[in-house]
Amino acid sequence: MKLNIALLAGDGIGPEVIDQAVKVSDAVAAKYGHEITWAPALTGAAAIDAVGEPYPDETHDICAAADAVLFGAIGHPRFDNDPSAKVRPEQGLLKMRKKLGLFANVRPTFTFPSLIDKSPLKRERIEGTDLIILRELTGGVYFGERGRKDDGNTAFDTMTYQRFEIQRLAKKGFEMAMKRGKKLCCVDKANVLESSRLWRETVQAMEKEYPEVEVSYEFVDAVAMRLVQWPKDYDVIITANLFGDILTDEASVISGSMGLMPSSSLGSEVSLYEPIHGSYPQAAGKNIANPLATILSAAMLFEDKNLTEEAQAIRDVVNKSLAEGIVTEDLAEGGKAYKTSEVGDWLAKNI
Ligand code: IPM
Ligand code: MG
Repeated sequence: MKLNIALLAGDGIGPEVIDQAVKVSDAVAAKYGHEITWAPALTGAAAIDAVGEPYPDETHDICAAADAVLFGAIGHPRFDNDPSAKVRPEQGLLKMRKKLGLFANVRPTFTFPSLIDKSPLKRERIEGTDLIILRELTGGVYFGERGRKDDGNTAFDTMTYQRFEIQRLAKKGFEMAMKRGKKLCCVDKANVLESSRLWRETVQAMEKEYPEVEVSYEFVDAVAMRLVQWPKDYDVIITANLFGDILTDEASVISGSMGLMPSSSLGSEVSLYEPIHGSYPQAAGKNIANPLATILSAAMLFEDKNLTEEAQAIRDVVNKSLAEGIVTEDLAEGGKAYKTSEVGDWLAKNI
């Protein structure tokens, strides 16, 4: 297969982890006879510095024309500490999600056999966890009306949802559940928020189309607690943008490290693959960041192109590296810590 992949390294550790994902993907392509063309493009603080805009039109054109987008990370402390900044790197990510129509963010949570004891949670609670948080990505409070009034002394952000936005996400959720454990949990705050009541009403109306799926409805505050207590109770969770943002960081604790969790963002055309972690500026340029989340995101890309064996080859070699202790310092625990690039080299060689 010929694949044209837009490569958006972004900020902080983005370029370092992306390099490793490219190495591993190229190794997979060589082994299975595929041809990958990488199309690099600017995004985030790097794009602001170069052209004054975090998601330039040129980058959008490259992404829209690609078969998939592989994305590193976005964000820079220079902007985090300056609330008055008018242009922010994160705006690039949001604009990209919106312009590419990536309304469904798939964030799987699973455990790695050799890392179970690295999680702060007890083995018996987490072993065998296999859930997907399907986060709505182009609506809600991230995109609602916001602003200031009363001379700047009052600020507001609005959580708006339209029925069709909930329907298209829930449809993906039901379809995923059908292929997995046939359980769907709609997570909301319907005891307080009107938008959540629309979520519930919409999902309830869809239940009869999927009679085999067992549907439950839970409040997000309760799920924040139950997710780390009983993660095995969940199969597919569907939830609004902000709730999903928060719950997926929380869920990463189950697997032992944020550095491990991949994601895909789906719409009707091109899909995007990115680690769920941020740009980790403290580690930028030091060659110490864990590249596995990005590499596992590349595995999701292959999987979505129906290159199942290729995806499995990546997951297998990642498991092997973890079992053999070829890990970056976040997972080394007193043992030898490998550099980001050494982990990438090892994985590519062992594909
Ligand atoms: C994520 C991140 C982003 C988000 C930030 C960087 C804007 O936290 O992808 O989870 O909030 O969506
Ligand atoms: Mg987040």
